[in-house]
Amino acid sequence: MSENKRATKAIVPAAGNATRFLPSTKSVPKELFPVIDKPVLHHIVEEAAAAGLSDVLLVTARGKDALTDYFDARPDLEDALRRKGDDKRLQAVKQPEQLADITAIRQGGALGLGHAVGRGAHFVGDEPFAVLLGDEFCDIDDELLPQMIDLQSQTGGIVLALLEVPWDEVSRYGVASVNSTDNDDVVEVTGLVEKPARENAPSNLIVVGRYILPGTIFPEIDRTEPGRGGEIGLTEAMDAMRENGTPVHGVVFKGRRYDTGEPVGYLKTLVELAAQRDDLRSFRTWLRDFSAELDD
Ligand code: UTP
Repeated sequence: MSENKRATKAIVPAAGNATRFLPSTKSVPKELFPVIDKPVLHHIVEEAAAAGLSDVLLVTARGKDALTDYFDARPDLEDALRRKGDDKRLQAVKQPEQLADITAIRQGGALGLGHAVGRGAHFVGDEPFAVLLGDEFCDIDDELLPQMIDLQSQTGGIVLALLEVPWDEVSRYGVASVNSTDNDDVVEVTGLVEKPARENAPSNLIVVGRYILPGTIFPEIDRTEPGRGGEIGLTEAMDAMRENGTPVHGVVFKGRRYDTGEPVGYLKTLVELAAQRDDLRSFRTWLRDFSAELDD
């Protein structure tokens, strides 16, 4: 029974136009923006691999070949570092290709998240799988994905990641209506609303970019009609499955999530992670002085 299978593959949609970062994203994918010395996508594939998802499909687009290049070997650079005896950087250069088995497919136009995920149908087959959006990541130590994969193997349904936000922020996100369960960290999802006004929001739990889905989502994506802007939404396909009886649960994540998909979130991520690093202690000192000046 496919219900008891655990997700072992991951799809990372990274084919969007990233308009919120234009003009940078004309030629540099936001999924490769550096978070200090590793690109966002490296953090994401690390998160997948740490949860046992070692088969990763990148959904890419024209002009985004650098996404797959990042996971290639660089013998020329390796030789140069070896000659210099720089073992630390040599290991760093080799790390991306060692993280996971990377495959890529083109989306052929930013036609929505549902469409991007649908491009992974052959890669996944009919097994459950994970979707990790290409512009955010969670701290591996907070183990969101392992919890989600466990829950999905029990329910056989859809598992979402939910995050509690202040009520005045709900109108910027997809929001879940939920029923509680015996487990404090898990809710049953009874509906999803896109960007509701604060007074209409069913909760302050927003849907973040991690999903564990059953393989049966693919025929549902095929049936989903394009909506606004010709895009095929993942939310619409998931909603149709829920209405047809597929259980939908949410893991309420209390750990650290970094949203690098828009400028303020990206800046916060850089500062937060830099401030944690012992080798960048001078940055922390500078930041303290700098913010003291801002308060004046
Ligand atoms: P976003 O909606 O945040 O990214 O999608 P975007 O559309 O590229 O950015 P804006 O809104 O124009 O600024 C989240 C992730 O899903 C991918 C994006 O590349 C991003 O990593 N995505 C989005 C696709 O792969 N295909 C799509 O059709 C849409």
